[in-house]
Amino acid sequence: MRRFLILLPFLVMSCTSPQPDPEPGVRSRTFGTLPDGREATIYQIESPTGMVMEVTNYGGIITRLTAPNRDGIYEDVVLGYDNFGAYLEETPYFGAIIGRYGNRIADGEFELDGETYSLAKNNGENHLHGGIQGFDKVLWEAEPFSVENEHGLILRYESPDGEEGYPGNLSVTVTYTLTADNRVIFSYQATTDKATPVNLTQHSYFNLAGPSSESILDHELMLAADHFTPVDEGLIPTGEIRPVEGTPFDFTEPTPIGARIDQDDEQIVNGLGYDHNWVLSGLSSDMRLAARVHEPTSGRIMEVMTEEPGIQFYSGNFLDGTLTGKYGAVYEHRSGFCLETQHFPDSPNQPAFPSTILRPGETYQTRTVYAFSTDADS
Ligand code: BGC
Repeated sequence: MRRFLILLPFLVMSCTSPQPDPEPGVRSRTFGTLPDGREATIYQIESPTGMVMEVTNYGGIITRLTAPNRDGIYEDVVLGYDNFGAYLEETPYFGAIIGRYGNRIADGEFELDGETYSLAKNNGENHLHGGIQGFDKVLWEAEPFSVENEHGLILRYESPDGEEGYPGNLSVTVTYTLTADNRVIFSYQATTDKATPVNLTQHSYFNLAGPSSESILDHELMLAADHFTPVDEGLIPTGEIRPVEGTPFDFTEPTPIGARIDQDDEQIVNGLGYDHNWVLSGLSSDMRLAARVHEPTSGRIMEVMTEEPGIQFYSGNFLDGTLTGKYGAVYEHRSGFCLETQHFPDSPNQPAFPSTILRPGETYQTRTVYAFSTDADS
């Protein structure tokens, strides 16, 4: 009892003194209201070492992600908006979960078990990133979690049979985890009651120099891939798996993104720059290094590890200065890049590509990690 009386003044003081910095963990606030009246929330996830990730349950969009430069200064390294309305109005998939199928399906059509399925066509004649209302434009159920030094968000979505033309009810869970060693882990899971293609990914645009409109052409990129899948003018794979050696697609050694991006090369012309799938080396189900990006002025490094067989490197070719994002940044041509881990585009129509078909009784399960460090760490 005496011990308690001695402690009491300290207890009272600590309750009434100004709030210290918030504990690492997850806090939430309202982001905005959907046209149907439902509310979108932002979850702010803070790591014990200082990284902050903000995610909204609308589209699972990462709206903010800070990472330290070589002097320990944390800055936002993803493109996006600071208000909900802007995401509703127009977004090139900034920060969103992509599904049911990441990238394109030719003519919005595929055959499965003797049946032809017609999907929403939202990219000329083709189907892109899950259709008109893909997983990037739906409200997910969100559940924050904290386990020791790791904090994150579990996102769940029930995609009904026939949504955007896809067969089967698909139950999807995507977990975002922010770790104390500056990693963001994406864990994807899905089950279905009817065979369906599934190819989930994350569509964050990065500029590792920090929040600005500067181009990403000086970022140095390494891709752990000896081959890529060439495309036609509509960005549909031709089916060929071509060696990168001797082409502007060889990033096996770190190379500035801009070094060869304007070369007179048929594939660069078709992609309007880089907008291709690289075939990752190694066994497809093993977690392994897929990409490393180094930004020379800030010293920031981002590594991508994945269990997926491919990675879409998109150099922001369709950004054209018409969108204004956070901090008033005007998103100019090639001011952000995406590294979307995935199965290959148009796989449902390409029998030689690894299968993307999920059947009842099976569980779709895959993980990808974005790891942040700096050149001062090594
Ligand atoms: C695709 C691009 C597309 C972009 C949408 C990328 O994943 O590869 O072709 O324009 O997403 O912003």
